[in-house]
Amino acid sequence: MTLVLVAGMSLMGAVDATPVAAEASWMPLRDLAKPRPIQVGTAIKHQALEKDPAYAAMLIREYDLVTPENALKWAVLRPGRVAFDFGRADVLVNFAITNNLQIRGHTLCWNLDQHLPPWLLEGRYTPKESRRLLRRHVQAVVGRYKGRVACWDVVNEAVSNDPRKPLLADGFWKRSLGPDYIDLAFQWAHAADPQALLFYNDYDVGDPMGTKSDRIYELVRGLVQRQVPIHGVGLQMHCRLSQPPDEDSLRANIARLTRLGLQVHITELDVGLEGGSGPLTEQLEQQAGVYATVTRAAMDNPQCTALVTWGFTDKWGNTHRNKRLGKPTGTPTHLLPFDREYRPKPAAWAIAKALKGEAR
Ligand code: G3I
Repeated sequence: MTLVLVAGMSLMGAVDATPVAAEASWMPLRDLAKPRPIQVGTAIKHQALEKDPAYAAMLIREYDLVTPENALKWAVLRPGRVAFDFGRADVLVNFAITNNLQIRGHTLCWNLDQHLPPWLLEGRYTPKESRRLLRRHVQAVVGRYKGRVACWDVVNEAVSNDPRKPLLADGFWKRSLGPDYIDLAFQWAHAADPQALLFYNDYDVGDPMGTKSDRIYELVRGLVQRQVPIHGVGLQMHCRLSQPPDEDSLRANIARLTRLGLQVHITELDVGLEGGSGPLTEQLEQQAGVYATVTRAAMDNPQCTALVTWGFTDKWGNTHRNKRLGKPTGTPTHLLPFDREYRPKPAAWAIAKALKGEAR
């Protein structure tokens, strides 16, 4: 199935019918970032692209980088031990390529059991069989999109949140292959597409220079020292208004990672309100402050080469429980820069100002 923008919604020369067009001084985010340059992106949902022409139109206008939110995960790609279902992924990759959007592939290897298909967890495999399963997955997926997916989150969330536990979290791939699963996944991905940039993607817990971030740093420093083909680290940055990231700490964490010779991508930025106290207008201004903090920190380090929000409109938002800050105090809402009618919220204006290098 190909996605065709509704006539008049197409931005190729036609009148721009997107809601932001009504905002006289609004400039597409992707254009504001060009002088730096930093790629400005968003996670994209298959169902939103299918059902909502305004979603597609805004996406093309505002962003130059997209991350399929779920379509490239094992849970979607792998209905069985030998079967692949590339249906959704192909739709999103083809849409992105057709509209000159670069793609972040997310994610080849997520070790946590709850994100893996039941048939994999229920199976009984020798270490050799497990190794073949992961190798063939990485080779098939990266190979299919060779030259079309610019970078991959090769391994996602491998580090445990609990400082009392071993650095690497328990999970299917660690149990099956031991700690080497990480090096192997990167090596297989690099062999499948030597041009693709390969990232380790994770989230901190609390302070961006706290224990978990230290452990992530330790993990990627080891990969670099062993000359594993890693090119960057994805900092997810799922934030909540109740505990905003400290700007100096975030900058320091980005800086130490780039001193390893790695790029940094902000990969999943969102800022959840939690039904806190005070008028919504005040909370939205505070939310804008957090978006500005993260965008400024990204802009101020030349090795931070992408800023990706985990969606862009509250019409198609998430209510994921934000593990970053421990037990959620409520369901995060209003997380994204544009509202349900695709109008820029204070958060979108704050990102725009920070991309232009202007203070809030
Ligand atoms: O598509 C199926 C649908 O057919 C079915 O009816 C429905 C009910 O079972 O499930 C749907 O799949 C869900 C999918 O989101 C699409 O909505 C999965 O169950 C659900 O687990 C999945 O959640 C995603 C989650 O990762 C787990 O993969 C979230 O959308 C996605 O935002 C979230 O994103 C993660 C990043 O990948 C990694 N970093 C943290 C981030 C937030 O948790």
